[in-house]
This record gives sequence, structure tokens and C-alpha cells, in this order.
Amino acid sequence: MSGIIKISPSILSADFSKLGEEVISLEKAGADYIHIDVMDGHFVPNLTIGPEVIKKLRPLTKKTFDVHLMISPVDNFIKDFANAGADIITFHPEATKNVSKTIKLIKEENKKVGISLKPKSNINLVKDYLNQIDLVLIMSVEPGFGGQKFMPEVLEKTKSIRKFINEKKLKVDVEIDGGINFENCSKAKNAGANILVSGSTVFKENEGNLKKNIEILRNN
Ligand code: DX5
Ligand code: ZN
Repeated sequence: MSGIIKISPSILSADFSKLGEEVISLEKAGADYIHIDVMDGHFVPNLTIGPEVIKKLRPLTKKTFDVHLMISPVDNFIKDFANAGADIITFHPEATKNVSKTIKLIKEENKKVGISLKPKSNINLVKDYLNQIDLVLIMSVEPGFGGQKFMPEVLEKTKSIRKFINEKKLKVDVEIDGGINFENCSKAKNAGANILVSGSTVFKENEGNLKKNIEILRNN
């Protein structure tokens, strides 16, 4: 395990007809971050929300907006998401021609930088950038949809990245995203993840008792 665990509920599983209330409820329930999944129907086979929605949610909470961009090409939208109120901007290396440039664009907006690896993406895609970024987001499902089954094979990758980060004495968060539930959350933590994303478990378990579900994910 690595220090304090943060829970970042994904609003992908929220009721979109009352997204504002859902975000306020998550804050009250003890969420650390709000995970916002942005999909373009091109990088992933699904469409979700864009900067205008984030802008409307921004005044409702001071919680960190953990924005996961599954859009390609990504560079042209960095400014829009920064202006909308993202705090962490995470992108996939496959969604840009020049990873260093994308990092630079996010830093110019004074936002935290995350790089996300799909289940089959090699750790080498991120290694050279770890000293420039704040977070690695390990996908434990194929990006695109909530409610999928956790892929245990990504735990090895999580361990390798955490080991590498610790050896180099870097301060980089390791976040895991996809299929996290009450059983596998401890495995993710033991592998070195310190931020857990969860959509369906937070919103659907225990009749949608957000507080209880966040607590179980944090403490299990
Ligand atoms: C998938 C998204 C995830 C997902 C998490 O592309 O990045 O954030 O919605 O939802 P669950 O926890 O239901 O897998
Ligand atoms: Zn996500």
C-alpha cells in the first residue's frame, strides 16, 4: 500500500438528468475527487460530456475535478477543459503525436498532468515522462464504458510502475480505473494504487448509498 487512499467516483454512473445534485451528493459522501470521463466516439466507441457541462458543475463543489480525456487528437481541447475547471487533466499517449508537447500544454494552464495507460498499453509509454507528470492512470478495463469487469492482469503493471516511481523517489500518484469493487480494491491498493476510480460500485451497491460505498472502497 502507498500512503493515504483517495477515492475518485466516476460520474459516468451518475444520473445525468441531475448531474449537479449528484456531484454535491458525492462531496457530502466523502469523495476525494470527482472523476469525469470525457469520450469522443473516436478514441473510444462512446460519447459523454464536454467542457460546457464541466463548466456548469464547477461552481457546485471545490473538490478536485479529475478529468480523464479519452479523446483524440487531444491537444486542441486542453485549453477548453482547463478553462472549464479541470484540476487534473489526464490523456492517453496514443491520443497525441507528441506527449511532451501535450504535457507542456497542460502545465501552461497550471493544471496537474496525468497519463493513462489502457490495459494493453506498455509501461514504456509513460516511463520517460514520470519526472514531468503528477499521475499515472492505469486502466483496468478497455476504456469506453462503465460497468465492465476488472482485468486482474493490470495489477502487475501497477506494481511495476509503483516500484519504478518509488525507486526514483518521484511524487507521482498511481490511479486505477475500471471495474473496481469491494473485493478487488485491496488488490489494487496492495499493487501500489493510491487513487481508486469507481463508477458502478459507488453508485449502484448498497442501494446507492454513496457514503457507505466510498467508505468500504477506502477501508477494505
Ligand atoms: C471507462 C472509464 C471509467 C469507468 C469506471 O472508460 O474511464 O472511469 O467509467 O466505471 P466502473 O467503475 O463502473 O468500471
Ligand atoms: Zn475514467
